[in-house]
Amino acid sequence: MTYETISVSKVTPNIGAYISGVDLSQALSDQTFEEINSALVENQVIFFRDQHMSPDQHKDLGRRFGSLHVHPVAPGIAGHPEILPLHSDAKVQYAASAWHSDVSCDQQPNLGAILYAKVLPEHGGDTMFASMHAAYEGLTGQMQHFLSGLEAQHGSEHIFGPPKKAGDKRPTAVHPVIRTHPVSGRQGIYVNGSFTTKIVGMKPKESAAILQFLYQHIDTPEYHVRFQWEVNSIAFWDNRSTQHRAVADYFPQTRTMHRVTVNGDKPFYRPNA
Ligand code: SIN
Repeated sequence: MTYETISVSKVTPNIGAYISGVDLSQALSDQTFEEINSALVENQVIFFRDQHMSPDQHKDLGRRFGSLHVHPVAPGIAGHPEILPLHSDAKVQYAASAWHSDVSCDQQPNLGAILYAKVLPEHGGDTMFASMHAAYEGLTGQMQHFLSGLEAQHGSEHIFGPPKKAGDKRPTAVHPVIRTHPVSGRQGIYVNGSFTTKIVGMKPKESAAILQFLYQHIDTPEYHVRFQWEVNSIAFWDNRSTQHRAVADYFPQTRTMHRVTVNGDKPFYRPNA
């Protein structure tokens, strides 16, 4: 892809790029939108510095990529249910510090999320991202073939707790273990240690051993990029091809982020042609 309206600078060969030359508070032209979307799909997570957006501008940016997700459990900021605040300080320790793909328990998990840094600790509080394409491509052909026929169960009650009202149910879903990216066609691993509960149709010991192997494999530094935040930085990740985790190394300092999340589609597996 040739970029004409933005500059794209890769951080690692496998994942992550810095984007410059665009003011995200302004409406994106069709060409700039297409270029940002291509950079997102190609690099799986893209980073922007020094962006100044109101909550409405943050939501407008997200809406350019699809309808916005409202978290099933966590409330949004005042007047903006679509903006999820992620806050930690000496009293409230928020820690999404395990690798995960957002709400893979949903039938149609998110396309991606746009995380905006508002308040940061003096040092630390980075976010790590892992490429599920690179992790898949790092497996042998035999292992890729074996995994491509499998499906996994994903749940959320063990994370969000039991439903508050009788009759309500926490989301659950079955998705392919290897997911084909709907835009690029690249394959990626689609199980994560937070929401995935088992591989369908296997004995518990078999399922646990395969999932454990995949979680260890995903935790390989060559598949990762680590983002050091500055106030007003943005990370926009493709939730279809990445996992991420926060680095919880700054307690008791304060860190506040705002997240706008874009709805996605149902994961599928399509063999390579
Ligand atoms: C998230 O897990 O959505 C946010 C990660 C972070 O706070 O760095």
